Amino acid sequence: MNAPQQAACAQPLPPPAQQGVAEFNRGAFFEAHEAFEDAWRAGHAPGREMYQALVQAAAVCLHLQRGNLSGAQKVLRRCLGHLEPLPPQCQGVDLAALRSALPSLVEAARANAAAGRPLTAGLTFPRIAVVPAPPQPFEGKVALVTGSGRGIGRAIALHFARRGADVVVNFFRNRTPAEETAAQIRALGRKALVVKANVGEIAGIDVLFGAAEAAFGGLDILVHNAASGYNRPAMQQKPRGWDWTMNINARAFLFAAQRAAPLMAARGGGAMVAVSSPGSVRVLPEYVVVGASKAALEAVTRYLAVELAPQGIVVNAVSPGVVLTDALKHFAAFRENDLLGEVEAATPAGRLVTPEDVAAVVGFLCTPEAFMIRGQVLWIDGGYSLPMRTLQKTP
Ligand SMILES: NC(=O)c1ccc[n+]([C@@H]2O[C@H](COP(=O)([O-])OP(=O)(O)OC[C@H]3O[C@@H](n4cnc5c(N)ncnc54)[C@H](OP(=O)(O)O)[C@@H]3O)[C@@H](O)[C@H]2O)c1
Repeated sequence: MNAPQQAACAQPLPPPAQQGVAEFNRGAFFEAHEAFEDAWRAGHAPGREMYQALVQAAAVCLHLQRGNLSGAQKVLRRCLGHLEPLPPQCQGVDLAALRSALPSLVEAARANAAAGRPLTAGLTFPRIAVVPAPPQPFEGKVALVTGSGRGIGRAIALHFARRGADVVVNFFRNRTPAEETAAQIRALGRKALVVKANVGEIAGIDVLFGAAEAAFGGLDILVHNAASGYNRPAMQQKPRGWDWTMNINARAFLFAAQRAAPLMAARGGGAMVAVSSPGSVRVLPEYVVVGASKAALEAVTRYLAVELAPQGIVVNAVSPGVVLTDALKHFAAFRENDLLGEVEAATPAGRLVTPEDVAAVVGFLCTPEAFMIRGQVLWIDGGYSLPMRTLQKTP
C-alpha cells in the first residue's frame, strides 16, 4: 500500500460500509454485499481492495447459504487475493480475523458436502469485528479553506473532513474539481459547502463568509491557501500584476481574518493558518511579486497572532517546499527542465513534499497541542533549503 492508502486505512469506516458491517453481523449477507458495493462505488478510501474483499466475503457466505459450494470456493479465492495486500486491520475492520475465518468456513462446508450433510450444518458464520475509531480532533468544527478545489487546498480540506470537520470549499475559476472535493468530503460523512468567490476582492470575501455563516452558523478554522501570481522577471512586472497578486495572496488573509475572528470568538476561539512559500525570504526565478506577497502574508500572520490572541485565536503559517501540483505549470523552470528529479535528489528527507504532508502540518497547527505556537512560519520541505549547495554536496 502507498502512503495515502495507509493514511486512509487509519480512518474510520464510512457510513455505507458501517451499515454493511451491521448487516453482515446480522447474517443479512445480501444487504451487507450491497452496502459494501456502495462504499466501493463512492470511491471511499482505501479504494477497491478493502471493499471488494468485503463484498466477496459477504458473497462467500451468501453462496453457502444458497447451497452453492463451488461458487463459494471460487469467490473465496478472489476475496483472499483482495485481502492479500491489506494490513491486518484497516479502517477499524479486523481483516486478519476475516482472512482466517473464511477459509475455515468454506472447508467446513466442503466437509459437510462430502459427508452428505446439508452444506451449512453446524457452521458458524464469521462476524466482522470493528475496533471503535479514535476520537476525531475536529469533530463538530467548521473549517474554511480558500482555494480548496484542487492541489494543496484540496488535501487540507480532506484532512479536516477525515478528522471530523465540516468544510467550506472555495474556488475561483474551476468548479468541477471543487465539486469533486466536496463529494469526497460528503462521502466521509461530513458536510461540504462549495462557494465560488474571488478572495482577491473584498466583495468576494464577503460572499464567501456570508455563505459559510448562513450554512454553518459559525467557524472554527480558517486556512488561507489560495494563491495566484504574475510570474516574470522584476523588470517586466506591471502594477496590475502586483495588485492582483498582493490582493489574492496577502490582503485576502487580513480581510478574511476580519470576517472569521468574530465567528471564532463567538465559539470561544479558533485557529488560522496561512500557506506561504519560501519565496518570501529566498529568491526564485520570476517570483518577485509572489515572493513579496508571501512576505506580506507572513507579516500579517504575526500581527494577527498577537492581536487575535486575546480572543483565543491561534494564528500561524506554513511554507511548503516544491509540491507537485498544477501551480508548477506556471514556472518555466519546471516546464522546461527535469527540475523535480533534481529537487527530490537534493532533499535530505529523500522525496518530494506531498499535499498531504502540508495538510498534516496545517491540521496540527489547528489542534490544542499547537496552542503555544504563535505567529510562526513552519517550513515543510524535507530539509531541501538547509544545505548551502555551493559549499557542500547533498548526501
Ligand atoms: N505547489 C508548490 O510547490 C507550492 C510551494 C510553496 C507554496 N505553495 C503554496 O501553496 C498554496 C496552494 O498551492 P497549489 O500548488 O495547490 O496551487 P494550485 O494547484 O495552483 O491551486 C491554487 C488554488 O487557489 C485557488 N485560487 C486561485 N486564485 C483564487 C482566487 N482569487 N480566489 C479563490 N481561490 C483562488 C484556485 O482555485 P481555482 O481552481 O478555482 O482557480 C486553486 O484551488 C498556495 O498558497 C501556494 O503559494 C505551493
